[in-house]
Amino acid sequence: MKIGILGTGFMGKHLARKLAAAGHDVKAANSRGPETIPAEALEMGARAATAEDAVRDVDVAILAMPHPGFEKIRPLIAGLSEDVVVIDISNYFPGRDPVNPELDGTKAESEWARDFFGRPIAKAWNSIGMVSFETKGRPNGEPGRIALPVSGDRSRDREVAMALVDDTGFDGFDAGTLADSWRQQPGSPVYITDLTLEEMGSALASAERERLPKRRDLSAQVFAERVGERASPDAETVVRIARALFM
Ligand SMILES: NC(=O)c1ccc[n+]([C@@H]2O[C@H](COP(=O)([O-])OP(=O)(O)OC[C@H]3O[C@@H](n4cnc5c(N)ncnc54)[C@H](OP(=O)(O)O)[C@@H]3O)[C@@H](O)[C@H]2O)c1
Repeated sequence: MKIGILGTGFMGKHLARKLAAAGHDVKAANSRGPETIPAEALEMGARAATAEDAVRDVDVAILAMPHPGFEKIRPLIAGLSEDVVVIDISNYFPGRDPVNPELDGTKAESEWARDFFGRPIAKAWNSIGMVSFETKGRPNGEPGRIALPVSGDRSRDREVAMALVDDTGFDGFDAGTLADSWRQQPGSPVYITDLTLEEMGSALASAERERLPKRRDLSAQVFAERVGERASPDAETVVRIARALFM
């Protein structure tokens, strides 16, 4: 497929690597220009582009940036053809992101993103930590493969996103429409806990909406205390803490 990725940070660069390695035609953009895109993002064949070029004539556009970047790309995404599958991987962290009063618990983050861009979106890859994403992908069928929930209001969006999740080394799990996508947000039992396909259904069902924001904010404090504001904990530490707090 022809894929444009907006964002080449921790997640975007590995999406670019994995999807290009899987044989997709990938363009990647950041906020500053093609010449500043890390070489690591391009090593498997993805091409550096401006944001405008990255989403021109594509089948899929992936938003791999925090919410503050959305305003700048709003016209680009709103102007894409209805056929393009737009996949948002973002999570909302007040403290890191400006407080968004619309995300006070009544609207799922991806419902807000859908309404912000005024077009259908799917949500995928938001629930895996970056170190697990980089290091724990496995071939389809391998026992213990990690599963990732995929939400979206159009079944084709979910199908395409699940196929791409598979191409990045993880099992896609159809988590239904965006109205239910709060179940895969930070603080939920499936968030950065590295569950398998067999574990995913019951974990999504056990999410308790009113507890998510508290658990999300608590986890940010715990990670900051354990490893500092800027350091990255190893994958096992992330999973151990997340399972203790969220499950
Ligand atoms: N890190 C994780 O473990 C993880 C896991 C799952 C999901 N997520 C979510 O995924 C999103 C990205 O996370 P990340 O850790 O990869 O972030 P990051 O390392 O901060 O990278 C963000 C990327 O977005 C780019 N960007 C920002 N505004 C842009 C714009 N208007 N046009 C094009 N590119 C733009 C930045 O460009 P520059 O390079 O030019 O600054 C940067 O490349 C966040 O919402 C995060 O919550 C993160």
